[in-house]
Amino acid sequence: MQIQDQYSRGLRDLRISVTDRCNFRCRYCMPEEIFDNNYAFLPKEHILSVDEIIRLARLFTALGVQKIRITGGEPLLRKELPEIIERVSQIPQIEDVALTTNGSLLAKHAQLLKNSGLMRVAVSLDALDDGTFMKMNGGRSHVQPVLNGIEAAAEAGLKVKVNMVVQKGVNDESILSMVEYFRDRGHILRLIEFMDVGNTNGWNWDQVVSKKEMLERIHSEWPLEPVDSNYSGEVASRYRFLDGKGEIGIISSVSDAFCSTCTRARLSAEGTLYTCLFATKGYALLPMLRSGASDEEITTYLVDIWYNRHDRYSIDRGKNQSDGSKVEMSRIGG
Ligand code: GTP
Ligand code: 5AD
Ligand code: SF4
Ligand code: SF4
Repeated sequence: MQIQDQYSRGLRDLRISVTDRCNFRCRYCMPEEIFDNNYAFLPKEHILSVDEIIRLARLFTALGVQKIRITGGEPLLRKELPEIIERVSQIPQIEDVALTTNGSLLAKHAQLLKNSGLMRVAVSLDALDDGTFMKMNGGRSHVQPVLNGIEAAAEAGLKVKVNMVVQKGVNDESILSMVEYFRDRGHILRLIEFMDVGNTNGWNWDQVVSKKEMLERIHSEWPLEPVDSNYSGEVASRYRFLDGKGEIGIISSVSDAFCSTCTRARLSAEGTLYTCLFATKGYALLPMLRSGASDEEITTYLVDIWYNRHDRYSIDRGKNQSDGSKVEMSRIGG
């Protein structure tokens, strides 16, 4: 079945958060004064079990999902991650299984994850110097463990992309060093405009470096040209270096929205479905799963949610959208 929302967008991509916990405290996602010892993380019994995750993943594939991305929090904190990946990748309709991680625990687990069926990883890294990086991640990790994770993933045969959130006055001076480092090593770096996700990261326009500005800065050092998308609805705009040394991506949710082709659904660790990264409301599936709802009943509910979807937060950003607090990024993993 191919379903469509109110703007004729299908459902292709399911992002599953497997934990709301993280061993980092990035200021733009989980500032440590809020996500402190008193913060109420989800108790284990309120988190989707592996069987529940697999059941939902199967039901989503019947509606058109072919791509699954596992996220967190930090997904490597979930002990059953290899099993989740193995069972997700065995679902016949699934063509792509990727993982978004902060990379700090990846060196140890990359080979096992690859053996379990993982195809690709996106590793978040915001700077190459410990001073800047640790300021951004709440002092939780040096740079080297993340670089080790990236190399271990590549050695294990996983395709690697590196995600850098660019915040003006915080790490924008690291753009060129990051570009140089990763183009020399053949990994695709994606620069992400700082976004107003969640309610706690103190976002404002002055801290955004636009796609245009990032491109100008990089182009003046290493000339670039645009490249066609790999697939319709790709989030990053691609650019290749004229000297042949690979490509970069820019993710411009703030200055150049890409909602018109958004085919992504997000499932939080507690089994709540969100139809936008900036949603103020989700749809709890856990009570249905645990009260004996049939596959048909759940599918009917999902079809109805998607049919009524009209999210396009980034396109409408700036208009008055304040109708409640937004879901936290750490609950749905980006
Ligand atoms: P590929 O599958 O490799 O094309 O990557 P992807 O863009 O699906 O992957 P990834 O999850 O690594 O996305 C990178 C970042 O882009 C995320 O962490 C978010 O910050 C941002 N992003 C991804 N999807 C969306 C979206 O639907 N809306 C907005 N506003 N930002 C998004
Ligand atoms: N703006 C842009 N990207 C963000 N991410 C987390 N918070 C933000 C934000 N406020 C990114 C992380 C990671 C992914 C999970 O989402 O860097 O790559
Ligand atoms: Fe953790 Fe990723 Fe959020 Fe940083 S951005 S706090 S690594 S979930
Ligand atoms: Fe999709 Fe919402 Fe992001 Fe727009 S803002 S691309 S609708 S997740």
